[in-house]
Amino acid sequence: MLTSIKENHLTNKGQELGMMYFRVAIILFGAQLVMGLIAAIQFLAPGFLFELFDFSVARMVHINALVVWMLYAMIGATYMMLTDETGHEGVAIGLGKLGFWLLTAAVTVVVLVYIIVQVGPGTEASLWLIHEGREYIEAPRWADIGIVVVVLIFYFNVFATYMKGEKTGIMTVMVANLLALAGLYMAGMFYTDNISMDQFWWWWVIHLWVEATWEVFVGTLAAYALIKIIGAKREIVEMWLWIEVLMLFGSGILGMGHHYFWIGTPEYWWEIGALFSALEPVPLIAMFVHVLYDWGKEQGIAEGRGETASVITNGPAMAWIVTNAFGNFLGAGIWGFFHTLPQVNIYTHGTQFTAAHGHLSFFGAYATILIGMMYYGLQRAYGVQRMKLTFKSKMGIFLTTFGVMGMTIALTIAGYEQVIVERGEMGATWNAFFVAQNLPWYVQAQMWRAIMGVVTLLGFIYLAWDLLTIGKVSKEAEA
Ligand code: HEM
Ligand code: HEM
Ligand SMILES: [Fe+2]
Repeated sequence: MLTSIKENHLTNKGQELGMMYFRVAIILFGAQLVMGLIAAIQFLAPGFLFELFDFSVARMVHINALVVWMLYAMIGATYMMLTDETGHEGVAIGLGKLGFWLLTAAVTVVVLVYIIVQVGPGTEASLWLIHEGREYIEAPRWADIGIVVVVLIFYFNVFATYMKGEKTGIMTVMVANLLALAGLYMAGMFYTDNISMDQFWWWWVIHLWVEATWEVFVGTLAAYALIKIIGAKREIVEMWLWIEVLMLFGSGILGMGHHYFWIGTPEYWWEIGALFSALEPVPLIAMFVHVLYDWGKEQGIAEGRGETASVITNGPAMAWIVTNAFGNFLGAGIWGFFHTLPQVNIYTHGTQFTAAHGHLSFFGAYATILIGMMYYGLQRAYGVQRMKLTFKSKMGIFLTTFGVMGMTIALTIAGYEQVIVERGEMGATWNAFFVAQNLPWYVQAQMWRAIMGVVTLLGFIYLAWDLLTIGKVSKEAEA
């Protein structure tokens, strides 16, 4: 049976390929955090690494590494579930492996160019060879084209396997959603010298990724993981998934208007953006309820059988998925809603408040569940029936979550001060920006952010250490 939670081993080469993607993802996650810390120190000591490794470069590598590791982990998770869901071993996994190596070689070259060359002259050649200067997706044009080719290989694998195998609801959503996700990337590839037009299309990638297609992707992951880890009923999980997809696309697509308030687009975007983006937290509440409801229900069934909490076959994965339910709701839903109405956004736009939301949402909605999938992959790779939380798993999840939450609160305070002093009191002038940046509330908040960043990094070290050892530990415990 496809949904059996007893088949806990890697069943094919596709899943091994998924593990390869996970390994690179976790390395890039580590690199992301180191870059973030450099940028955080530069907030406090602007001279730190001046002209060697400027803030703009550290920030660029920080957020590009973020996007790339998440895409890697998403591809890994897809390969992980492909065979289980379709009942087919995968059509062209050899080609998929080639794609992996091509992509990894390209990413390595791009990162080295970011770090060593850093910036080029304002010519077409820089766009092709160094970077495009489009926040989050700065890859140079040659790499853009390479990425499209590799993603086509990946998508071919997923689509052809789906067509040959069983077509579950989860897989149907995944196949359709991945097409949209991959296609949107191209909206961020063509060049125009009109900054408004450039931003208009750039948001098609950024917003329609994180507030539509990536969220739907998370919905499919959660559905699959709940079936595998707590033995949730497929019919119930898939019913939730369809409702969530409808709500996510229904609010998220036009919710994009919240980025069109001040970039030169027509004013009707104020109303459209306000209305639809204000609805965006609704599906996030549904996703939150869904995870907790299924968990509680399975728990009840277990207790009825006289077992206590024994239905969870993978403790760390489940802990990260529950963190995802909270984190998605808080980071995207609450922190997003805070600044989404134009009446509020006119004051908060581009302040540290935005950065607070950016951190908690990316971590809460995506890092968490992708890490959960890595633990699930490990359980399969080691062929263990039960994977329990170790001390290191607990420290990993606690310190990273506490650290990111701490950074978010610090940045929220810094943003609040900017809103009051820079925007409200001083009227958003050039001078106001610098006055606000030098007041004690702002400086102390940045200090706390750096401290909480160190806590996050410590959590990451525990996490990586746990990922390296938990498979062996679980296997020995089972023997
Ligand atoms: C997991 C989902 C989400 C992620 C990962 C995310 C991430 C981000 C990031 C990184 C930015 C900063 C972009 C930049 O550099 O300019 C941003 C901006 C913004 N987000 Fe989200 N977001 C999510 C969901 C939401 C939701 C659900 C809402 C509304 C309810 C929202 C409202 C906004 C608004 C209004 C801005 C613009 C801030 C400004 O004017 O400076 N976000 N988001
Ligand atoms: C060691 C921990 C971290 C530190 C010290 C750190 C520091 C920073 C700094 C200094 C910036 C630039 C902010 C600015 O331009 O004002 C930044 C941006 C950003 N970081 Fe981090 N970061 C850390 C971890 C993370 C994590 C775990 C995530 C998400 C999973 C993340 C996501 C982001 C995003 C999305 C932005 C862009 C925000 C925006 O444009 O509004 N960071 N980070
Ligand atoms: Fe958005």
